Amino acid sequence: MSVLIKNGRVVTATDDYYADVFVEGEKITLIGQDLKVAADTVIDATGRLVIPGGIDVHTHLDMPFGGSFTADDFDSGTKAAAFGGTTTLIDFAIQTQGKSTLEGLDAWHARAEGKATIDYGFHMIVTDMPEERLPEIDRLVEEGITSFKMFMAYPGVLYTDDATHFRTYRRAGEVGARIQLHAENGIVIDEFIKDAVARGDVSPGWHPRTRPARLAGEAVYRASAIAEVAKVPLYIVHLDCVESLVEVKRAKERGVDIVAETCPQYLFLDDSYNDLEGFEGAKYVMSPPLRPKAGQEVLWTALARGDLSLVATDHAPFNYKGQKELGLEVFTKIPNGAPGVENRVSLMYQGGVVEGRFDVNRFVEVTSTAPAKVFGMFPKKGTIAIGSDADIVVFNPERRETISVDNPFTHHMNVDYSAYEGFEVQGWSEVVLSRGRVICDNGKLVTEGGGQFIKRAQVNQLLR
Ligand code: URP
Ligand code: ZN
Ligand code: ZN
Repeated sequence: MSVLIKNGRVVTATDDYYADVFVEGEKITLIGQDLKVAADTVIDATGRLVIPGGIDVHTHLDMPFGGSFTADDFDSGTKAAAFGGTTTLIDFAIQTQGKSTLEGLDAWHARAEGKATIDYGFHMIVTDMPEERLPEIDRLVEEGITSFKMFMAYPGVLYTDDATHFRTYRRAGEVGARIQLHAENGIVIDEFIKDAVARGDVSPGWHPRTRPARLAGEAVYRASAIAEVAKVPLYIVHLDCVESLVEVKRAKERGVDIVAETCPQYLFLDDSYNDLEGFEGAKYVMSPPLRPKAGQEVLWTALARGDLSLVATDHAPFNYKGQKELGLEVFTKIPNGAPGVENRVSLMYQGGVVEGRFDVNRFVEVTSTAPAKVFGMFPKKGTIAIGSDADIVVFNPERRETISVDNPFTHHMNVDYSAYEGFEVQGWSEVVLSRGRVICDNGKLVTEGGGQFIKRAQVNQLLR
């Protein structure tokens, strides 16, 4: 099969020019002006951007959490991602405490295999790491799992102590892997939660109030110090607040290999959402929590300047009815997380390019190229180049949509609300190709299945 994308404006993280792009099989094989080649499918991209498919490196599909499972699995979640212009995602496999991480990986392969419509990889969530289990890290890296998420939050669930952090960081560094951190001091947070519940402060608005931003900044500092002495590249997931950003910048200044992602929710939403009428605030209960509006512009500036490297969603959808409602009596029982995998690319085009915070190159960089580079998928993924996978989005930079659970052009996620209900965005993913297959065409899913597992490379290695 071959596809010719004609007359588009090709935008990568570094380039911006008019050209035709020719795809043979799964790869881009020719880029040039006015190409005279026969193709099975010809797409007219006049007036459109031709950009590399989005890469969302933080999703939780079919994840057990807080007494429930996330509402999207690898079938619905990868289709929704594709509609929104994302052609690769990295989800999190979870180690059951006391059991092998390799078993955890097998379980997540079983969840995804045969269901995914776009390509996917896995990070590994480490919930314990005694000395004798350390060789599993080497095995996982051989299997293409080159990043390991650890938590300073959620004591009794996903939390691990500093010794476990150090042990894991050091081994990961030795074998070319990266550590990802959920930066919140869960031990102290639990004291705030106990006090709030004892006082009867149990509504969703108490979720952010019991998780002070200083305790996020403290966790970033502690992890950056441990990573520094353990000699491992560190990655801060879902960076939410100025306190954490300051610690990322300080660590960079003293030479620590550290990068940070933020998420649309911390750029577009704020903690006032948790105080919405009735129980509505539960829709916005996530960890780390939404923060005061004043911090949003600071995060945008950091993203534009490169102090924040990329944007992922932390897509963790739970239905309002029946799932979020588990916490009607007390906010601690609300499953943490919000949906977003389908909206990321449009939101970032709107907030970044349309609202004038950065240019189209930076838009492509934060949504595709940087994620590919940081997580060992470049240049197979993350750019438009000869030899790269034909993961391509024909993006209409003029089309406006109002994001809504009721809008069939913005909501295919299997969840009963939208975190961005009523937000107007300009920029929409019109045609989406995954390894040369057209999968979405003007709001219609035309191919399903066929997503493949990506064995990712080690830090600073290229993937072909
Ligand atoms: O609230 C969130 N973020 N839920 C998903 C789990 C995590 O910590 O990323
Ligand atoms: Zn997390
Ligand atoms: Zn997450």
